[in-house]
Amino acid sequence: MTQPATNTLIQALPKTELHLHIEGTLEPEMLFALAERNSVKLPYASVEAVRAAYSFSDLQSFLDLYYAGASVLITEQDFFELTWAYCERAHADNIVHTEIFFDPQTHTARGIAFITVLNGITRALAQAKERFGLTSKLILCFLRHLSEEDGFATLAEAEPYLDRIDGVGLDSSELGHPPEKFQRLFARCAELGLPAVAHAGEEGPADYIWQALDLLQARRIDHGVRCTEDAALVKRLARDRVPLTVCPLSNLKLCVVKDMRDHNLRELLAAGLCAMVNSDDPAYFGGYLNTNLIACRDALGLTAAEVVQLAKNSFEASWLSAAEKQRYAAEIDRIALA
Ligand code: ADE
Ligand code: ZN
Repeated sequence: MTQPATNTLIQALPKTELHLHIEGTLEPEMLFALAERNSVKLPYASVEAVRAAYSFSDLQSFLDLYYAGASVLITEQDFFELTWAYCERAHADNIVHTEIFFDPQTHTARGIAFITVLNGITRALAQAKERFGLTSKLILCFLRHLSEEDGFATLAEAEPYLDRIDGVGLDSSELGHPPEKFQRLFARCAELGLPAVAHAGEEGPADYIWQALDLLQARRIDHGVRCTEDAALVKRLARDRVPLTVCPLSNLKLCVVKDMRDHNLRELLAAGLCAMVNSDDPAYFGGYLNTNLIACRDALGLTAAEVVQLAKNSFEASWLSAAEKQRYAAEIDRIALA
């Protein structure tokens, strides 16, 4: 298939996105607008200066700016507008289902009420369902650089609203904060009926992926690209079809890989893993889902069959019903054969 033909295929295929931090969709223009509206002082003179600052050497150098940026989000309307802007972009990329992360501790630590955050996000998601037919799930992420006790306090704040929260995740600074630190918290989440995912094997070692699986009962691994350092782990992930929510442009921007041509996405697919592509924090990393797919196609020479496999995997890895997964798989086959 030619390049324009794979571009068309990437656009035409229905897809899910399963690794997206809503706070990571805060584009510089909105950052500035909200800072002005909420009288928050920013250390940047212009949108261009913000973009110029988005040059990262590792995960922590990004997180420092990401948490600072989130300080402009104050009201329910701010969270609504942030989420709505993402939904519009997701719809433009033909994402038909999205399972998004939010980081309540980033906001409650600044005195923003949990319900303010939740109401803003869920109002936008409901509007996206109505306007675009875009379905969604919401995953509450615990910040792993904070204590397990802090996580328990956040879970207590979330408990009255669990009908609006579909699962829990683990994000933030990976190195030095292994999944085992949160074993009791995730056991409690499981008792409450909340399925788990966890960031692991982004900067951290393959052992953190084992821990996420065995100690947190994670159903998906976010990133997970370092699994290829451990052949037994790759076998386990393939055997159980544990999805890896891979984020190629994020890996490039955070120096997990030096060059996109070094990314192991094709290797993961060839090993029979349920890998799929996501945008992570698209406002910071240079693109949304289709831009990630195109970057992989260009750097790795993804074939049309691999692009189709990634789209199929994105549904298999989702928390949609079996019937919905089947319906989308059939639609993908129809488009791939057209
Ligand atoms: N929070 C937002 N993006 C993240 C990432 N890529 N890794 C860990 N925590 C994050
Ligand atoms: Zn992430």
